[in-house]
Amino acid sequence: MSEQPVGLCLVGCGRISRAHLAAVQALAGTVRLVATVDRTLPAAQAAAAPFGAQAFDDLATALALPEVEAVLIASPNGLHAQQGLAAIAAGKHALIEKPLAESGAVARQMAQAADAAGVVLAVGHTFRQGPAFHYLTDHWADFGTLRAVEVSSCVRWEGPQAPWWATKPREEGLILSLFAPHSLDFVQLCMGADDPIRVHVEAARWQSGWQGEDEAMIIMAYPGRRLASIHISYNQPSIIDRKVLHFSNGVVEIEDGEFLRFNRELLVQPEPGVVRDGRVMGGRSLGHYFTNQLAEFAAAVRGRPHRCVTGHDAARTIDLMDRLIASARANSAADLIDPAPPVDPNAAAAPVVDPNAFGPGPVEEKA
Ligand SMILES: NC(=O)c1ccc[n+]([C@@H]2O[C@H](COP(=O)([O-])OP(=O)(O)OC[C@H]3O[C@@H](n4cnc5c(N)ncnc54)[C@H](O)[C@@H]3O)[C@@H](O)[C@H]2O)c1
Repeated sequence: MSEQPVGLCLVGCGRISRAHLAAVQALAGTVRLVATVDRTLPAAQAAAAPFGAQAFDDLATALALPEVEAVLIASPNGLHAQQGLAAIAAGKHALIEKPLAESGAVARQMAQAADAAGVVLAVGHTFRQGPAFHYLTDHWADFGTLRAVEVSSCVRWEGPQAPWWATKPREEGLILSLFAPHSLDFVQLCMGADDPIRVHVEAARWQSGWQGEDEAMIIMAYPGRRLASIHISYNQPSIIDRKVLHFSNGVVEIEDGEFLRFNRELLVQPEPGVVRDGRVMGGRSLGHYFTNQLAEFAAAVRGRPHRCVTGHDAARTIDLMDRLIASARANSAADLIDPAPPVDPNAAAAPVVDPNAFGPGPVEEKA
């Protein structure tokens, strides 16, 4: 077992790379940044400079370096599969941002390629790596038999956070494809190797800046009479991030990913300053999730026990996403096409929602 730091190459030096680079810095001695790649060379150079790493604008050159043992791929979603497969073919371990691939079939192909090459393939479902989730999995047996999981993950985005959010076709799902995977990954963590036997999704759209759904309720039935529900929203000005797990020995409640209570007794709480105000966007510090995730990846690369989300796990979640989006389309297509409530001629002047509470409110359909 080598005690050398893992030689890492960061691929894609955009917005989220800052969180990954901070994690590299926090794990000096465990991980060493030896190379960066971005199609824009100055971006790669800016990321590499503080670490004395080499910078490139093409992946193949970096993959040829023997000091690159592993890659962290944080490029746009459409490149994950192609770049991940190239890294695996070069014999490099890979930590790849979510989503691993654009279909479950391709994700499975990547997981199998990594198995065949004898390298680690881990996926950046970062939110699994918080202290409350680690406590939950470490003490799972204490809680008894799981019957049900409820997730509420509701935030407020004032319109598209990237231009493509606005034009993303309804059929691909908006909040279901962008935000649901975090909650779904948590439910899958709780349900172990099982996938749901039935899913039902209802979805709606309240904002006008995009075409897809921005609010959804997901109900899933798992083998062994276990049930799960997920409520996700982009319309909630006072944020809620809450997980409730119903076990035979009592109730586990996880708030903001940081506080864990069992039968109301507080067992896990964050370090001071981590949750400044969980009700507002940006009111939580997430840096330790990225640090934990990278530490778990380094442990896996060195052959030690780890909590990485594997390529096989990610493939199952992507397959499940497709089922959920299909259910939403079947059940709530009309609400997405015409989200405006029916017009009551006697109450035409009455506002449907309080605009101060919900921002722009329901969409006025264009002719
Ligand atoms: N885990 C999380 O919580 C989390 C949060 C945000 C984003 N993400 C994921 O991270 C990934 C990147 O998101 P982002 O917001 O940083 O995007 P971004 O657009 O800010 O950054 C992407 C970077 O990749 C570079 N790039 C484009 N083509 C490339 C190529 N062929 N080779 C190398 N680099 C290339 C771009 O120049 C850019 O610098 C996405 O897959 C996203 O889903 C994950």
